[in-house]
Amino acid sequence: MGKKWRAWTILLFVGLGLVGWAASRQLGREPLVYDDEQKGLEKQIIIYFSHVVAENTPKGLAAQKFAELVEQKTNGRVKVEVFPNGSLYSDGEELDALLRGDVQMIAPSFSKVTELVPEWQVLDLPFLFRDEDDVRRVFTGKVGAELLRMLEAKGMKGLAFWSNGFKQMMSTTRPLIAPDDFRGLRFRIMPSEVIEKQFRLLGGEPIAVSFDRVYQELEQHKFDGQENTISNIYSKGFYKFQPYITISNHGYLGYAVMMNQSFWDHLPKDIQQKITEAMAEATQWNLQESKAQNERELNELRQREDVHLYELSEREKWEWERKFAPLYEEFAKRFGARLLEEIRESEK
Ligand code: LMR
Repeated sequence: MGKKWRAWTILLFVGLGLVGWAASRQLGREPLVYDDEQKGLEKQIIIYFSHVVAENTPKGLAAQKFAELVEQKTNGRVKVEVFPNGSLYSDGEELDALLRGDVQMIAPSFSKVTELVPEWQVLDLPFLFRDEDDVRRVFTGKVGAELLRMLEAKGMKGLAFWSNGFKQMMSTTRPLIAPDDFRGLRFRIMPSEVIEKQFRLLGGEPIAVSFDRVYQELEQHKFDGQENTISNIYSKGFYKFQPYITISNHGYLGYAVMMNQSFWDHLPKDIQQKITEAMAEATQWNLQESKAQNERELNELRQREDVHLYELSEREKWEWERKFAPLYEEFAKRFGARLLEEIRESEK
């Protein structure tokens, strides 16, 4: 080996040694622990995350999980403050609050996005998804990406789709089995044209009520029925007023987890990266937890003598589907059939 090569080799080994020494010092170190005083508040990024459901629900728990992951991954540089139960904004207010930048993050149900992005009505169509696998295939594919782009055009950075599983029907006075059972009853709905028409097709009277008022209005007998997921029915105790629950799995209740676009755009790239990683983990966790929690709480409800559960047969579901067919025709007429076709294609 010539002199020149020897010198290069020595230099290389010295360099590698130095890198190894620095890495071992870093690994051996305790993670940096910050508290607000140490860090200097001006360096900390605070994200207000507002939502309307209870803390012990798939959304409430995933929001908490996300906050923990972000704090860990950014070593305390970013702090996500979660406000559950509509304690900051009700569901009718949270989209505007996000757009104004009064909060940085929300996770409204799809129905509540439809006022701003009407194409999202497609997700409210009853029996659009057969099961969670259909949902996953649609949201991880081309359609999911397209739906998120629609949010971006309105100033909202879509980060993920979270799940709360499938909606069930419930009523105060009688089981809801055949389409005719809905006739003449008043139903609490989320603000959504498709859901409104769904109940009109069944002969019911839909009334839009924001989630934080449902319990109170139930006490005041302002409506006779509603649709929701088991975890919402259970965590808010709706079954105490409306004990007839039909397991119909007719509609899907998912959430668009999003940030104010301009807030997102101004975050440093490395922080965006950490938030994206934390969101991917929290989303995986939410998908599993939402399934497990809805199953667990359905079993709890099964044990109760004051709750009357009825599972819709395939034949009965088919009767409902026939009733709902005009909703699909209307959607296609208004927005074109493409989105629907793409969803059907991804579900294959
Ligand atoms: C509802 O209004 O019933 C739901 O959208 C509440 C929620 O966020 O799960």
